Amino acid sequence: MTQRVALVTGAMGGLGTAICQQLATAGHKVVAAYRPEFDKPDKPEVWKKKMAEAGFKDFVIVPGDVTNYEACVAMVAEAESKAGAIDILVNNAGITRDRLFAKMQADQWDAVISTNLSSLFNMTKQVSSKMAARGWGRIINISSINGVKGQAGQTNYSAAKAGVIGFSKALAAELAAKGVTVNVIAPGYVATNMVMAIKADVLQSIIDSVPMKRLARPEEIGGACVYLASDLAGFMTGATMNINGGLYYQ
Ligand SMILES: NC(=O)c1ccc[n+]([C@@H]2O[C@H](COP(=O)([O-])OP(=O)(O)OC[C@H]3O[C@@H](n4cnc5c(N)ncnc54)[C@H](OP(=O)(O)O)[C@@H]3O)[C@@H](O)[C@H]2O)c1
Repeated sequence: MTQRVALVTGAMGGLGTAICQQLATAGHKVVAAYRPEFDKPDKPEVWKKKMAEAGFKDFVIVPGDVTNYEACVAMVAEAESKAGAIDILVNNAGITRDRLFAKMQADQWDAVISTNLSSLFNMTKQVSSKMAARGWGRIINISSINGVKGQAGQTNYSAAKAGVIGFSKALAAELAAKGVTVNVIAPGYVATNMVMAIKADVLQSIIDSVPMKRLARPEEIGGACVYLASDLAGFMTGATMNINGGLYYQ
């Protein structure tokens, strides 16, 4: 396998951590991008130590807020100087601000659209033309089952995650002849903090509704990233991989 450089946003979250670990296990050099927080200056060190204890000692870490274009310019420049040209970009950072539409506030709409969708513009702009010039690249965007089917209480999130799919199909068409693929993973419910924060009775009813009667393990999403990042996935572009335990069929 050719070793590539992969940059993962939201790397210190539940799915991001699993994606970093799976890509590293597959032999790639991984740049873990995180959102800096003034009140948690030791966040990267704490995560790096945890990763080292789990056997992952070589992650390169870079800070950057994906909602801020200039921060993304700086983040990718730092990543390139520390790890080399980015071959694989995983746009994974995301948030929820759930509320029924009647009660949703403009700031809840804006935060979710900018973090889950505008971030793809901010990040992908930094790497896509360079990938095309080199003739090889992989852009993997994390959407959600709720962007595919819509979910009450998530007009903001469903809109952003559906936008991720539209963005990916359009960019896939632009880059198809240049050796760069753009694909989407639409996970169902995964056992990460984002989902474990759901009220216990609601979470149980979600699990009951999944034909496989369980949540996804984060590494099951990371494994799909490894495939999409590989040479073997070279003929797949503009596609959405639905990984949801049979909960929803398109
Ligand atoms: N868990 C699920 O069931 C599920 C299902 C479908 C799709 N997804 C999607 O999968 C992705 C990962 O979710 P997760 O479950 O791993 O959630 P998570 O544990 O909350 O991780 C989300 C990550 O995004 C980062 N982030 C948030 N805002 C950011 C910003 N402005 N700039 C940079 N990074 C930012 C977070 O950083 P901080 O920790 O600093 O906030 C965190 O590391 C998201 O896009 C989510 O929508 C998740």
